[in-house]
Parts: sequence; structure tokens; C-alpha cells
Amino acid sequence: MVATTSGRNTRASDHVREDRLWQRHMEMAKLGATAKGGVNRQALSAEDAAARKLLGGWAAARGYEMFTDPIGNLFVKRPGTDPDAKPVLSGSHLDSQPTGGKFDGTYGVLAAFEVLEALDDAGIATKRPVMAVAWTNEEGNRFQPGCMGSGAFVGEYQLDKLLEGKDPTGATVREAFASVLAAAPVPVIPQLGFPVDSYVEAHIEQGPILENTGNEIGVVTLIQGMRRFYVDVLGDEAHSGTTPLRMRKDALKAAASMVLALETWMADPTDTVRYTVGRFEIYPGSPSTVPGKVHFLIDLRHPEQETLRRLGDGIAPICAAEAEKRGCRVEVREYTTVAPVPLGDEAIGRVRAATQALGYRHIDMISGAGHDAMHIAKVAPAGMVFVPCWKGISHNETEAANAGDLANGARVLADTLAALANR
Ligand code: GLV
Ligand code: MN
Ligand code: MN
Repeated sequence: MVATTSGRNTRASDHVREDRLWQRHMEMAKLGATAKGGVNRQALSAEDAAARKLLGGWAAARGYEMFTDPIGNLFVKRPGTDPDAKPVLSGSHLDSQPTGGKFDGTYGVLAAFEVLEALDDAGIATKRPVMAVAWTNEEGNRFQPGCMGSGAFVGEYQLDKLLEGKDPTGATVREAFASVLAAAPVPVIPQLGFPVDSYVEAHIEQGPILENTGNEIGVVTLIQGMRRFYVDVLGDEAHSGTTPLRMRKDALKAAASMVLALETWMADPTDTVRYTVGRFEIYPGSPSTVPGKVHFLIDLRHPEQETLRRLGDGIAPICAAEAEKRGCRVEVREYTTVAPVPLGDEAIGRVRAATQALGYRHIDMISGAGHDAMHIAKVAPAGMVFVPCWKGISHNETEAANAGDLANGARVLADTLAALANR
């Protein structure tokens, strides 16, 4: 319970509106909508700009200040009563996978915005400002690395280098951000990163555990670690009709052997290791030319640092051995390294307390997916609230969630943020 400006006692969660939150998801889902019911709203695209503009319209209607920082993280601020108090932040991302769903990321931003409105509707004043944030390029598909905006915010990445990063068409982050600002103008603050009191991110689970166990809320205690690698396999282009097999340096066959040898290396009877090759490019891509180059990306995840270290460190030698067998060369370069991130005890405790007070069935859980919270946890107590999604499906256009489950998560978020902002 919180004392309100009118002297009554009320909870922020009492003013979360399921219909409003759902309607906003449906509005957002139109931006980059795909024929199969999903969303293609990649980072800093025209669709991303449209989503930022839509959020900006809702913020303006409430009179909230909105601004962006030099990497495009977008903040919506509800002021606090203490002008010197550090803000409590909550959010996620508005960008999607190329064949993404309506809820991954969007939910965290809209739930945070719903909390700002619920606080207003409840007449609750908070000592600290509460800000909703949409971090830039969480997904890491169009531009690398993923969780770019939150990583830059905490100083993990260098801004100038990030801005020069290119998408597959050669457009830079700098150019794409300028286009977004032209399409969805918003004041840009000069500094990257500012003091944060605490951070809580709501997200769909993106896995099947909550649904399978009949729980309504997941209290996230740890985000598993991740290592990502670029692999370039170099052979020799040759005529496919004239070059005997034993004379070839076929980059594709070498790359295929690497992918399978690594699968054997990663084999895990407990099925905890996550090993994915999600991008695989063959050059020159002609039916009559033996491939001279293959570029592929490896995504490796595990909750334990030692296993992540051991498995990841095995990648380069295994690739080198497979390359040698076929007379090819290989270059392996790690471009994302995030250790498993335990979330902050204080934030976890507040999320759990709010969940219990609301009477939701809940469990503690590990996040298999990466989230912006894993970066913000380096500078402030950070927590996460998970809600179920249909069959645990995500990074898929059929991703789905119930309006009631989304609202439950927003209620937990509302009481958690109110408590953090008034302590
Ligand atoms: C985020 O989308 C991730 O890849 O975990
Ligand atoms: Mn996400
Ligand atoms: Mn995602």
C-alpha cells in the first residue's frame, strides 16, 4: 500500500488495465506485421521508428517527457518528488527478429508504460522518477552485437565503434539512427548512461516452464551466459564441372564438418547446453563454382561460467582441425561474451514480495534468453518478471500470450516499481 496524493491507500497494481495493455500490443503489432501473424521490426528500421513514434504519442498524451541517448535508447519519464533521486527504470525492446512475434520485447516496454499510467491513475506520487525504456537493438540480427543499447548504456561497448557497425546492405548504425530520428523526432541527450537506482524488466518467458508447471509468474534469478562467434572458412573457388574432388579446397564442406564436429563437442546428456548456428552464408553462391568462402555465426549459452568457458574455448581448435582436413583455412572471432548474470537480491526480493502479495502462483527460474537486464545488472540492482507464453514458442511468428497473463505481470511490475521508487 502506498499513500496517495489524495490521502487514500491504494496499490499501483489495482490500476493496471488489462484491456489497455492488450490494445497497445495489438497497435504495436501492426508495425512490421507479417502475413503469418508475427512481426518484422528490425532495429532502427522504418518499422522501429514507427513503433517509437506510437509510444511517443501515448507519452505525449500523458504529458511525459521523452528523450533518447546517443545510441537511440528511448526513455519516457514520470517525474518523482525528489529532484535529486536516481530513477527506477523498467523496459525492454521494440525491435524484433526478422520472423519475430508480437510480444518479445514489446511486452516489457508496454508493461513499463502501463505502470507509469497506473501510478498516475492511482494518484501515487513516487520519490524517485520512474522511467519506461526501449533499449536499442536487443535482437542483434540486423546489427551486431545484440543488447547493443543497454550494453552501451553501461559502458560495455564503445559508442563510436557501435555507430560504424553495418547491416548486410552496408547501412551503418549511425545512418539508421539518423533516419529513425528524422521519422520520429525526439530530443537527444548528449550523455550515454546516467545513474540508475534500480531496473526491473518484464518479458514473456520464451520457454515452456511456466505453462507446463501451471505457474503465473516467473521470478528470474539468473540470466544464463552467452558467447557468440564469427567463423570465416576460406578455401579456393574452382569450376564445379572440371575440378576433381580431391583437388578441391571446398569451404562449404569444411564448414559443414565444423558445424557437426562442434555438435558432437557440445553433446550434453542433461540437455542444458544451447548451441546454435543461425546464420550461414556461402560465397559466391553459384551452382557451378566450388564455394571459396563460408561465413557463419555460432551462439553458445549455458548457465555455468566454467562450462561456457570450456565449450567456447574448444570452438577455434575444432574448426582449425576440420579446416586442415580439407586444405582450407579458418578464422574464428568471438564478438559477444556475457558471463551468466545473477540478478540483484534486492530486486528479486521485491519482485517476489509483490508477486506473493498479489497471490500469483510463481516459481524462481533461470532465463535461457538474453535480456537487456543482463547489462543493467552491472550498474544497479536488476530483476525480471516472466509471464507464460503459448507452448513456450518465441522467435517465431506464432508467438502468443494471454491478455490476463500479461496483465498479471504488469501488476507485479507496478507494485515492484512503486516500492522501489518510494524506498
Ligand atoms: C534474445 O533475443 C536472445 O537471443 O536471447
Ligand atoms: Mn526479448
Ligand atoms: Mn528476442
